[in-house]
Amino acid sequence: RAFFLPIQQAPPPSPSKRRTKISVVGVGNVGMAIAQTILTQDLADVLALVDAKPDMLRGEMLDLQHAAAFLPRTKILASTDYAVTAASDLCIITAGARQLPGESRLALLQRNLAIFRDIVVPLARHSPDALLLVVSNPVDVLTYIAWKLSGFPPNRVIGSGTNLDTSRFRSLLADHLEVNAQDVQAYMVGEHGDSSVALWSSISVGGVPVLSSLEKHQISYEEEVLERIRKAVVESAYEVIRLKGYTSWAIGYSVASLARSLLRDQHSIHPVSLLAKGFYGIPDDREVFLSLPARLGRGGVLSVAKVHLTEEESLRLTRSADTLWEIQQQLGI
Ligand code: NAI
Ligand code: LAC
Repeated sequence: RAFFLPIQQAPPPSPSKRRTKISVVGVGNVGMAIAQTILTQDLADVLALVDAKPDMLRGEMLDLQHAAAFLPRTKILASTDYAVTAASDLCIITAGARQLPGESRLALLQRNLAIFRDIVVPLARHSPDALLLVVSNPVDVLTYIAWKLSGFPPNRVIGSGTNLDTSRFRSLLADHLEVNAQDVQAYMVGEHGDSSVALWSSISVGGVPVLSSLEKHQISYEEEVLERIRKAVVESAYEVIRLKGYTSWAIGYSVASLARSLLRDQHSIHPVSLLAKGFYGIPDDREVFLSLPARLGRGGVLSVAKVHLTEEESLRLTRSADTLWEIQQQLGI
């Protein structure tokens, strides 16, 4: 008060109307990459961090707070007590075990299922109107579990899904076609994992559908190249984990792009893990979460995009759904 002269002003809007709050549970490689990107992109007024390791949690909070002079003003909180997440608009869950080199995402299920039981219920209790965004692996099954444990409507429970795979797909296609990755439209759908599906028919560059132009010009070698790119996308996490022990930066940007679309009500289309029953031929009784291109906004999943699938793509998507459904059946949740 000693530094400024008061002016006549109406009372500010109540904090609940004025501020956007994001909570991140799990401040390891992924959680901190997400937290850092949220701050850099000015996506929240309040950022709450939770983890099971109190010293590391406080250290990460202080380290981020010390960057305040370089960042938009954001209140950064941290506690092992979920009360710190109260009244969040978006809760992002990255807590859990990660893959060892060569280990599949699905192999993490039992360990992370136990952790989710401790996390989701208090999160939901403290923020009953929040959007839940699951990142921990296996992300599709854990998103289903978060939906069941939270009791939230399915449109407010989303998994980062193949939003990351799609980014990898676009970056590899962009390299091959020597264009900017942001000008490549392409989707990976289904499981965020070994059975993910590349939608060739969705690929367009600068508005030109790639597949039909390949067929028109009978460029068959290109289709082999596209299949090689698809395989490289599925393999990319294993390669990065083998080289540096984990993946973090790409998922950090991927989740920040989802947070922006959700909280800024962008109505952008992202392939995210959602309750897929009844869409694209998945039976109505299959309560399975997997990635489909969805329109995202402040209400979460607003609608699912109708993208054309070839017969082969539809078959692969059904297989991806079956894989996840069989695993979920064994959980008995
Ligand atoms: P990490 O080991 O660096 O961090 C995990 C954090 O979770 C640790 O700080 C740990 O203390 C915390 N934690 C464990 N149990 C907890 C509990 N009960 N409550 C609160 N915090 C708890 O692992 P990293 O590399 O950050 O990966 C985290 C998860 O994200 C893994 O499951 C990994 O597979 C997944 N992931 C998912 C991606 C996706 O595209 N969906 C991409 C990259 C990673
Ligand atoms: C990835 C794994 C870790 O795609 O889910 O980076």
